[in-house]
Formats: sequence, C-alpha cells, structure tokens
Amino acid sequence: MLKIGIIGCGGIANGKHMPSLKKVKEAKMVAFCDVIEERAIKAKEEFGDEDSKVYTDYRELLKDSDIDVVHICTPNSSHAEISIDAMEADKHVMCEKPMAKNSKEGRAMLEASKKTGKKLTIGYQNRFRKDSKFLYEACKDDELGEIYLGKAKAIRRRAVPTWGVFLDEEAQGGGPLIDIGTHALDLTLWMMDNYDLKYVVGNTYHKLSQTKNAANAWGPWDPKKFTVEDSAFGFITMENGATIILESSWALNSLNTGEAKTSLCGTKGGADMEDGLRINGEERGSLYDKKIQLDADGVDFYDGKGDDPAYEEAKSWIECILEDKEPVVKPEQALVVTEILEAIYESAKNGEPVMIKKQCECCK
Ligand SMILES: NC(=O)c1ccc[n+]([C@@H]2O[C@H](COP(=O)([O-])OP(=O)(O)OC[C@H]3O[C@@H](n4cnc5c(N)ncnc54)[C@H](O)[C@@H]3O)[C@@H](O)[C@H]2O)c1
Repeated sequence: MLKIGIIGCGGIANGKHMPSLKKVKEAKMVAFCDVIEERAIKAKEEFGDEDSKVYTDYRELLKDSDIDVVHICTPNSSHAEISIDAMEADKHVMCEKPMAKNSKEGRAMLEASKKTGKKLTIGYQNRFRKDSKFLYEACKDDELGEIYLGKAKAIRRRAVPTWGVFLDEEAQGGGPLIDIGTHALDLTLWMMDNYDLKYVVGNTYHKLSQTKNAANAWGPWDPKKFTVEDSAFGFITMENGATIILESSWALNSLNTGEAKTSLCGTKGGADMEDGLRINGEERGSLYDKKIQLDADGVDFYDGKGDDPAYEEAKSWIECILEDKEPVVKPEQALVVTEILEAIYESAKNGEPVMIKKQCECCK
C-alpha cells in the first residue's frame, strides 16, 4: 500500500486526483496540505480518515517519512520548487501539468529525479483517454507511416478560467498556451513519438481579454487582471522536417472549437479526433475513412463501457511505482513540451523564430 500526500487541495485535486486515488486500492491518501487550511481539512474529511494529517506548509508534510508519494496540485509557479523538495525528501512525484513555468525549472526537476532516483510524472491525463490510447497504438503499429504533420488543438470559444490565479502571468507563466495548449501538444508529440526539436515560431494575442463584461462559461473577467495571453499559435519544425501546428485559445471567435485534440497526417494514413476518432487512408486504389467504435457494446457494470482517464492515470502511476516501471508520461517528454511552449512565448515576444539548442546528454 502506497501512502500519498496531496499538496494543493483546490480544483484539480478535488476534480481529478483525490476521487481517482480513492478508487485505487493500492493507494491511501494520508496527508492533505493547502495554504488555505479549510481546503485541506475538507479534503481530509472527504478523502481521508481520522488518522490523516492536515498541513498548511508542504515542507512539514514532506518531513513525514511514512509518505511515499506526493501529488502536487498547486499553481504552476510552485511546481518546480515543491517537486524538487519532495524528491529530495524521498517521495515519488506526480506533478500537475504543465511541468513548470519554464524549461530551466523543468530541467531542474528532471535532474532532481535522476539524482534522487525518485519517479516523476506530469498530469497529462488525456493520454489515458480511450481514443488517445487507440491512436497511440495505431501510430506505434505504423498504421499512419511516417507522420510529417501534426495539428495540436485546444480552442475554446469563451471559457476563460476566472477562478484561482489562471489570469496571473506571474503565478502561471502564461495563459491558454501553457494551460490547455500543453495537453494538445503533449498528445501530438506522444503520437508522433518525435521529441527532436529544430525551431519554433509563435504569436500570442491579448485581444478578447480586453473585452468588458464578456460572455464566458465561468463569468466575465476583469480585463485589467487578465495579464496572460487569450490566444497563442505556434509553428514547430522538428529535426526530421516534420511540422506541428499548435492552436490554443480560451476565447476566440471561432465555431471550430475542441480541446486536447490532435490530427495527424502520415505517409500511409491520417487520423483526427474532430468527430470521434477517425483514421483515414488508401486501400486497393480507394480512399477509406474509418470511425473507431471505442466502447465495446457491453454493460457498464462489467467495465464494457466507460472512459475514466483520471482513474486510468492514477492506477497506471501507482502501478509504475509498485512495479518499478517507467511512468507513461516521462519527465523528459514533458520537458520538451515545456521547451516548445517557452519558445512560442519567446518568439511572440521577439518577433523571431527560436532555434532550439540541442539537449545535453543528461536530459535526453
Ligand atoms: N490536468 C488538467 O487537466 C488540469 C486541469 C486544471 C488545472 N490543472 C493544473 O493544476 C494546478 C492547480 O490548478 P487548480 O485549478 O486546481 O487551481 P486552484 O486554484 O483551484 O487550486 C490550487 C490550490 O493550491 C493551493 N496552494 C497554492 N500554493 C500552495 C502551496 N505552496 N502549498 C500548498 N497549497 C498551495 C491553493 O490555495 C489552492 O487551493 C495548475 O498547475 C493547473 O495547471 C490541471
């Protein structure tokens, strides 16, 4: 049985980590930490038991040698610091996405994992969706051939997160690009199994963020506090010549929306997630387009149906620790995602492409 400490008991801890871990029988949540004490107390009441501990300082939680694993669910600016402290305190780390605010921090996290031998993974739960797993296997089996175009899409028409610190540049390091673009990019790179970057060009926009009394899924935002971009787009060229186009927005005048989606074009076939998962190709001189039926036509009760990526993520992570395997989301891969996001921001700021320096051996 692995003992888990939760650091940050806000939205994603309550929405994903704690309910999922509760269902994993080899895991037990024994400590809850939040700088807002009531949140940690509430988490203990809902997901712990009378022996669970409550902390307001994560450093105190890390002193508990009984804890094997921590889940870090705090704003982006503290991911690196808490992850590194946790690994140095002999804990395995599941850190929420994005890995860190920038690649320097991400690299330090990776180095800490290598130095301490503790496992580190990042919360890209979209990899555990049924459509993603199917497409990943299809790519691995070479059904699409050489994939030379990937389109990563994270477009919302009006769904700006107005709670917490999402609009605050300092706390988050960016807006929709680092928040949701990160998921779509992670999926795309994983499917393409291509992490060898050459150069990146990007643009960011602060357009609809300046609208007063805007229509929004989570209520209107304050334009003065909206210091991150509202949209960001990137064009990424890989060493082997492959192209990735990344579109991300929390507010865009577009009907072509969709989040954590990828489209791939390869020499043998293509795939997209626009309208369910479809794989296209050519056979015997004709074109085909197959729609993948992801639910076995079974009965919910017998696990024939249902898609719970959050639970799959938690289960896979706990298994990887118990069986000493590599996590599905490797920190080296999450670091490349972070490098690309950073390069898009840098390119947008300077109006120039960013050539990516080769990674040093230790980061490969
Ligand atoms: N995987 C996903 O799809 C997904 C979805 C939403 C958010 N996230 C990520 O989860 C993280 C948190 O987002 P959220 O929506 O839960 O935000 P949130 O504001 O709802 O919750 C964050 C919590 O962390 C607490 N906190 C802040 N600093 C702390 C510290 N030093 N020690 C202990 N507690 C601290 C806050 O008081 C708050 O309760 C972000 O990095 C975000 O990108 C991931």
